[in-house]
Amino acid sequence: MRIIFRFGGIALLVAAIVILAVLPFATSFVEQWSRRDVELRSRLVFNSVRDQVTGLLARNDTQQVAGLFERIASDERVLAIGYCDGQELRFPTANMPKSFSCAEAARSDSESFSTVRNQDHNILVSSFPLNAGGRVGHLVVLHDLSYAEQRGGEARNYLFLALAGVAFGAAALAAMIAALIMRRWLASIRQALESARAGNAQSTVEENIIPLGKEIRDVLQELEASRRTIDAAHTDWSPDTLRAALANELSGSEVIVVSNREPYIHNRTEAGEISLQIPASGLVSALEPVVRACGGTWVAHGSGTADRDTVDANDRVPVPPNHPSYTLRRVWLSDEEQDGYYYGAANEGLWPLCHIAFVRPIFRESDWQLYRSVNEKFAEAIVAEAKREDPIILVQDYHFALLPRMIRDRLPNATIVTFWHIPWPNAETFGICPWREEIIDGLLGSSILGFHTQAHCNNFLDSVDSFVESRIDRERDSVFFGGEETLIRPYPISIEWPPTAMEGQKPVEECRRIVRERLSVSPDMRIGVGIERFDYTKGIIDRMQAIDTLLTEHPEWHGNFSFIQVAAPTRSKLANYRLLQEEAEALARDINERHGGNGYEPIKLLIRHHEPDEVFELFRAADLCIVSSLHDGMNLVAKEFVAARDDEQGVLILSAFAGASRELSEALIVNPYNAHAMGQAINRALTMPEPEQRERMRLMRDQVKERNVYRWAGQMLLSASRLRKQQRIRQLIARGRRRAAANA
Ligand code: F6P
Repeated sequence: MRIIFRFGGIALLVAAIVILAVLPFATSFVEQWSRRDVELRSRLVFNSVRDQVTGLLARNDTQQVAGLFERIASDERVLAIGYCDGQELRFPTANMPKSFSCAEAARSDSESFSTVRNQDHNILVSSFPLNAGGRVGHLVVLHDLSYAEQRGGEARNYLFLALAGVAFGAAALAAMIAALIMRRWLASIRQALESARAGNAQSTVEENIIPLGKEIRDVLQELEASRRTIDAAHTDWSPDTLRAALANELSGSEVIVVSNREPYIHNRTEAGEISLQIPASGLVSALEPVVRACGGTWVAHGSGTADRDTVDANDRVPVPPNHPSYTLRRVWLSDEEQDGYYYGAANEGLWPLCHIAFVRPIFRESDWQLYRSVNEKFAEAIVAEAKREDPIILVQDYHFALLPRMIRDRLPNATIVTFWHIPWPNAETFGICPWREEIIDGLLGSSILGFHTQAHCNNFLDSVDSFVESRIDRERDSVFFGGEETLIRPYPISIEWPPTAMEGQKPVEECRRIVRERLSVSPDMRIGVGIERFDYTKGIIDRMQAIDTLLTEHPEWHGNFSFIQVAAPTRSKLANYRLLQEEAEALARDINERHGGNGYEPIKLLIRHHEPDEVFELFRAADLCIVSSLHDGMNLVAKEFVAARDDEQGVLILSAFAGASRELSEALIVNPYNAHAMGQAINRALTMPEPEQRERMRLMRDQVKERNVYRWAGQMLLSASRLRKQQRIRQLIARGRRRAAANA
């Protein structure tokens, strides 16, 4: 309704401006027109009496002239008449103004017209030359012009009324047209939303019939795309901007995060004390600062030996322990559940399925049943934690492929954003999974499903296309399945900026000295580092082979280069992981025997968990860092190394098969399967001039700073907010319809 009034108002305003501009012109036009009319009348008077007056003057019949003049002046339009004989006024009629003077009026040899002011109105003085008996005089006819002014005023009033009438008519017409357009517009939006929701072939037909609906959708898509670009390009993402985005876009919303790995693990030490551990997990290091900024609840598996001793009666514990800002809700799993769900289905099945590392996945039906039941258990925990019927739930990773659907069944109004932290394989590879349809169905319970890269999004869409009945909208990158839409989007994960682990770090020179001392390495030894979980996807063996090649092909590095490999034990229950560790230890020994000696160890293998500040100290002490993943969704170690180097020195050697290589293109990009090329890259890194190191590092730091983890979370949450707004529109339309039906 407001928009209709606005249209009418604008039309009225335009009309008022036109009226104000036109009225003065119209008045003066009417006045001029009336004056010309009076001039014409004067001329008529003169022409009709000229001969008679000439004759009477020639005969000097003054009485007849005066009588004739009085008769002419009796016409109500003629004010007065007289004869100017030179400067002398003769035979003036009774109404001749006292102020009239022949000197002013009768000066021309031809007819002339002039206006004089008398009291409060104008008088037109028409003067006509007259030859009477050889003497040239002037017949002067005076007309009162007040009637012309009156006519102008009347014309102005009529015109004003007429234009005002037209203006009101135009305003009413504009309002009617606006009302009509609005109705069509709303109908089109309704159609567009409905067809989008229906998601079947029918909607394609409807789009063609109602082009406006398609246009609206296109515009909305463009808006969304431009907003994504704006978000990406112009926001300096930080905890504050993330909090502001939440407050502006999702105020009053409830955020629940769910992951298998918990951000804080409480363990009982041998001395019986409780120690706190921050796990070696890319997921945790990325997500924890985000949840710290947003608040809310994080639901995760309580895996620590003292976890039960640190929760309240509802299995909740406020974290971070020093400055609590959110709630960790722990879910307990039996050994049997962990074996089937975590070690079995997730890490022997899905992990090798999704990573091209040539480790054969194992699919056990008994594992899958436990995977399903643990997903159910987490769904129940989430429902118990939810205080509203429409929370925003951020589901993390391959441990919870079935969870989005289970939440959707229990909380239909929830906004579920799922992020898959590992690669998604191509459809052919995914097709070997016996649970492929159930996994896709589970994930499509999400409102938004995110991957690190567009390539993984494409692989997922291809898998959906191959294995379930659905409609894929390739332009929108979404899947319509069972009447619901899931958006498939790339959100490259990152790290916090500035990293907490940088707080209290010593200057680079000091870190170099401290680390070399601690590891018993000579002060001028060049150092490379590799830091990760002991996982076969990380290419640890391949990296060692490259070092072997380097030392073989470039013996000048013997005694001058040492590689520190930090590997945190992980999933050690699994044979593949144990074998990897044994193989790595054996290879390190072998290389050290062949190339080392006299206290020189080319490879130092440190198999233990390192806390973030130790990791950053190592990064700062190193000349280069190797990330040689055989396949990796993103890899945050690469980004952390860059973040640690505020001295803008150090070289990153990065696998082309890690998602991070798409963003950190100034690293030395390598194929980890090519030991020779990787050896060359290490040599290149060790001989790279400082200015080149600085230039590369500066660009990478800018990239990591700008595309930090707050941006990652912010973009997902903004997408969730847009979805919720669209959902609200649909609900409003449905409510309006129900009311209309009830009133009908
Ligand atoms: O890469 C997926 C991922 O969840 C990472 O985020 C994390 O580094 C790793 O797996 C954690 O493994 P886990 O929790 O099994 O130790």
